[in-house]
Parts: sequence; structure tokens; C-alpha cells
Amino acid sequence: MKFFLDTANIDEIKRINDLGLCDGVTTNPSLINKEGRDFEEVIKDIASTVDGPVSAEVTSYDYEGMVKEARELAAWADNVVVKIPMTEDGLKATHTLAQEGIKTNVTLIFSVSQGLLAAKAGATYISPFIGRIDDMGEDGLRLIAELREVLDIYGLDSQIIAASIRHIGHFEGAALAGAHVATIPGTIFPKLWSHPLTDKGIEGFKKDWDAFTKR
Ligand code: G3P
Repeated sequence: MKFFLDTANIDEIKRINDLGLCDGVTTNPSLINKEGRDFEEVIKDIASTVDGPVSAEVTSYDYEGMVKEARELAAWADNVVVKIPMTEDGLKATHTLAQEGIKTNVTLIFSVSQGLLAAKAGATYISPFIGRIDDMGEDGLRLIAELREVLDIYGLDSQIIAASIRHIGHFEGAALAGAHVATIPGTIFPKLWSHPLTDKGIEGFKKDWDAFTKR
């Protein structure tokens, strides 16, 4: 499974990239807004920091607007992937962009049907929002497993990005369910390497080493 960072914060990205654990980045209008920086500047900054794909989302919702914006975004850097919302116009735009060789990430996927349609339209990535599905009292991780099964049965090339990850259980569950990618918020990522028993173990070893060296 690849690890993407779900953030537009360059410090969070650099921290994980320095560990060799950042395979790519996803952003959305809310994450860009949070940074308070110019959209183009942030995306170019991220795209030159990481080697992998960087998703930048269109803000138009009509077919012509999405395609126009997508072509502009894709020209910002070679590794920009254009995020397209899962709508009829979004599917049409995804199909057009696939024919032009522009990579897309179809976002706001909440059902197997939506994922299957986006994959058939030519999406490079499809992004089911598992946390938001759980918020509805449904099972986000089940959707990941079902999408993976459907893509495999029909030999579709789209990769599943498990998005809207809120906790370690989502990350581990996405890995087990066969997500190709997990996109992890910068605030959640450090929790993946932490464990209270690791901290306790280190504390015990330190204490015993101190006692040994004072003998
Ligand atoms: O990748 C999608 C993500 O940014 C949305 O997360 O927690 O707002 O549902 P959340």
C-alpha cells in the first residue's frame, strides 16, 4: 500500500517525506483554505518537494470549467493529478482528460456504483471517503474491500485511495481491505509509529542503562 499525505501543509509533508514514507499528496479546497496561501504556489511547492503524485482539485462543477481548469492544473507540474468531483459532469471530464493523458483522482466516492463508474470513465484514482461513511452509521472499510473486489473482477486499472482517514483503525483496515493507497492527514501520521508500550519500553531501558553506568 502506498502512503499519501492528506494535507497542504508543507512542514507536515517534509516531515514524512524525510522518513521516506511519503509516496504522494492529496489536497482539496478545504485543506488549501486552511493554509491561507496562494493555491498555485502551494501546489507547485508540494509538487517540487515530493516525487509522487500530488492531487489538486478543480473548483468548477460544470464539464467545460472542469476540463479547462484540469488542463491548467496539470501544466503546473508533471506530477499533478487532477481531482474531480463524482458527478455526471465529473465523469464526462474524467473521460475527456483520460483521452488526453491527464491523470485524475475522482473524489467524494460513497458507493460501489460511483467507484465502478469512475473507474470505467478512466479515473487514475478513485477516492472513497471512509470516515464520512462511518459518520453516516455505515461501514467505510467495507466499501474499500468491495471496490477492490470489483476492480479486480473486471480488470480495471484505477487505484483506490482510502480517504477521510480519521484514526489508526482506518489506516490498518484500509491496508487489509486492499486499498492501493491510504491518504493520511498530517496530524494522524505520527500516531502510526507511536505506541505506549514502545515509550514504556524505552523508558525502562533508559532507567536500567543509567543504573548500570552508575555502578
Ligand atoms: O481526503 C479527504 C479528506 O480530506 C476528507 O476528510 O476528515 O474531512 O472527512 P474528512
